[in-house]
Amino acid sequence: MNNSVLKQVLKPALLLAAFALVGVLLLDTVNRYTLQRIEANERNALMRQLMQVVDKNSHDNDLLHDSAVLPGKLFHSSSDVTIYRARKQGRPSAAIFVTTTDKGYKGSIQIVIGIRMDRSISGVRVVRHNETPGLGDKMELQKSPWVLDFDNTSLQQPALSQWAVKRDGGYFDQFTGATITPRAIVGAVRDVLLWSNEDNHLLSVFSLPTTVGNPSEASDRAVKAEMENAQ
Ligand SMILES: Cc1cc2nc3c(=O)[nH]c(=O)nc-3n(C[C@H](O)[C@H](O)[C@H](O)COP(=O)(O)O)c2cc1C
Repeated sequence: MNNSVLKQVLKPALLLAAFALVGVLLLDTVNRYTLQRIEANERNALMRQLMQVVDKNSHDNDLLHDSAVLPGKLFHSSSDVTIYRARKQGRPSAAIFVTTTDKGYKGSIQIVIGIRMDRSISGVRVVRHNETPGLGDKMELQKSPWVLDFDNTSLQQPALSQWAVKRDGGYFDQFTGATITPRAIVGAVRDVLLWSNEDNHLLSVFSLPTTVGNPSEASDRAVKAEMENAQ
């Protein structure tokens, strides 16, 4: 191959490769940046949700970096339950449970529940659901104040037997023409309260190892051992 042929073939090939490389690098940078933005947005959204269910000034720690994960079956939750721990000057002040019930009309409903150390509820919000708009979505605060009925309730107020919708003889309103959704939510909140009221479960949450993401089998075992020790 003479010099001019080499130039004719090699130069465009090298140029093309350089462009491709720049393109790949650019795409990778944009990808990373977008992922970081998505993660930051998700963190902010989660933080806003958590702040809605704890009392103002109840904590001075970083909730997002103080959490533990427990197996969902302890709470009849269809997914592992993440618990964010609120502390003031190092002392436990509240625990926020993220639980999921699959008893909704259209499948799973994810609920955030704040519980004070006296085992009263500081707030409940439904953060994810597929219930029917206009019929089964009255648990959204923008649609109705229904979810605020949980504020300051406990297993004593109303009594455990009243932890049901009115249609089932309980304390909580159902929605007009839609009982399945509120029944599922009341049941899920009650299950978390029941667990929190057993022995010293609530306090022992604060000595669980901090977990990020879903528990592996090993950390699952570690958590269970901790819970058994705490009882
Ligand atoms: C298209 C359609 C969508 C519905 N969506 C819901 C829903 O999201 N949540 C709910 O509790 N019930 C929903 N229902 C009503 C339930 O089928 C059921 O009748 C109701 O929850 C029972 O409440 P009731 O005992 O007050 O009638 C829906 C019904 C239909 C026909």
